[in-house]
Amino acid sequence: MAELTVNGRTHQVDVDPDTPLLWVLRDTIGLTGTKYGCGIAQCGACTVHVDGTAMRSCSVPLSAVEGRQITTIEGLAQNGVLHKVQQAWLDHDVPQCGYCQCGMIMAVAALLKDKPKPTDADIDSNITNICRCGTYQQVRAAIHAAAASA
Ligand code: FES
Ligand code: FES
Repeated sequence: MAELTVNGRTHQVDVDPDTPLLWVLRDTIGLTGTKYGCGIAQCGACTVHVDGTAMRSCSVPLSAVEGRQITTIEGLAQNGVLHKVQQAWLDHDVPQCGYCQCGMIMAVAALLKDKPKPTDADIDSNITNICRCGTYQQVRAAIHAAAASA
């Protein structure tokens, strides 16, 4: 049994310690907002926060995150109030099919925590998530809008 804290709730999970965090989140705990894209840490669809840092959960074993604070897209809004990145995404109509967007939002939320006013170069080097719908221009505009909001 491993103990996992996700979005402030503790879960006891009976899963092989080598299991990628992504599958524990989706299949064991039932939080399906975090998506599977590539499985090899390349696309970012599976991005969550581990102790506030963006990590690609398809490539992190359960054993590496025991006792750490995990936040998924389901836990990003606080007390019914959207995170400023979520709000900017809505305001700028960023998602198309939406598949990559939960991971994209989690990556951006972590970036803004470290760099509240990122430059385009910061965005290019930090937000390497892949979007098959090509929403990159809307993503960039929404990042700047979120950075400019309170
Ligand atoms: S599914 Fe994890 S990076 Fe693509
Ligand atoms: S919105 Fe469709 S993959 Fe990004």
